[in-house]
Amino acid sequence: MDDFIAVNEPVLSGNEKDYLVRCIETGWISSEGPAVREFEERMARRVGREYGVAVSNGSTALELAVRTLRLPEGSEVIMPAFTIISCAAAILRAGLIPVLVDAEPLTWNMDVSRIAKKLTPKTRAIMVVHIYGLPTDVQPILELAAQRQLRVVEDAAEMHGQTYRGKACGSFGDVSVFSFYTNKHITTGEGGMIMTDDAALAEACRSLRNLSHSPRRRFVHDELGFNYRLTNLQAAVGLAQLERLDESVRKKRRIGAFYNAHFSSLPEVELPPVKTDYAENIYWVYGMVLSNSLDFDAEEMMSRLREMGVGTRPFFWGMHEQPVFRKMGLFAGEHYPVTERIARRGFYVPSGLGVTEEQQARVAECVTRALRM
Ligand SMILES: Cc1ncc(COP(=O)(O)O)c(C=O)c1O
Repeated sequence: MDDFIAVNEPVLSGNEKDYLVRCIETGWISSEGPAVREFEERMARRVGREYGVAVSNGSTALELAVRTLRLPEGSEVIMPAFTIISCAAAILRAGLIPVLVDAEPLTWNMDVSRIAKKLTPKTRAIMVVHIYGLPTDVQPILELAAQRQLRVVEDAAEMHGQTYRGKACGSFGDVSVFSFYTNKHITTGEGGMIMTDDAALAEACRSLRNLSHSPRRRFVHDELGFNYRLTNLQAAVGLAQLERLDESVRKKRRIGAFYNAHFSSLPEVELPPVKTDYAENIYWVYGMVLSNSLDFDAEEMMSRLREMGVGTRPFFWGMHEQPVFRKMGLFAGEHYPVTERIARRGFYVPSGLGVTEEQQARVAECVTRALRM
């Protein structure tokens, strides 16, 4: 279908092409090039952190972030049940145990009031994940972490340009991460970055992302590292994207406002809040949850929209319901009712930076029709 509206279209209309041409003309295309360091420094400055370490994607950023905390094997890490699998994978691959907390029904973020009940003597860290456009309420988490001497990992993969009580997301964890996948407010196609103020942590991440060559001699290794490097080509695109971040966030808010205006009168859907007392939504994606009064779920809704030429994506699927974790014997008998409900009834509509008002109007009309078929 030619006029199919994709769930995401990136915008690459700034200096991306010029910066890429410069890479090609100078021959700097690998991770050794100068754009990588420049992108790291500019991101760190933007977020108010000392260090940025660019890596191949947000999942590898999470993996290195968790691993470099060097927590004792078998330590427990609190994390949301409602998130992407990369979060739990990073914890498990570091030899740690993920402990889940349900989402709260309005913002879909981890329900902070439920964390205390999950603490045990083995808890060593909390992973905060900001979901879809509004940050998690981090202040109580930081207080709890300070009281209990817990480390904080902040997954700000979706939160470029977002703030919590006026301070940039990505500045709250001992280590924080961003993703630069193509649907993010800053994209490098694939890419990610670890942010920290801790020089030793940053250095450990730099070493692990590049095979952990020994500082004494290249090709000698005291530790098993990875190749998680970002290329200069990707970083060059990232620099151009970063230049337009504020504009991109404004555009996202216009997209959100447009949908809010069209959907807020529909009793059949629950919409994302415009703001909380600590942040204004940036609508990384525009999600909605079907009300219980409807006798069909998000899968049916998405299939109706696909027939009408509208791309969608389902919400995340709870960690405790992942077949891979069930097979590993994890989360047996655990239930998280909010996560289970929004995973089945939630989906998001085209809300990438490239979506036009005409497309949004068609999406709005199709959603209304699909709800009432
Ligand atoms: C919250 C969150 N964390 C981590 C990731 C993983 O990032 P990537 O796709 O770059 O590996 C994503 C991806 O969208 C995400 O939404």
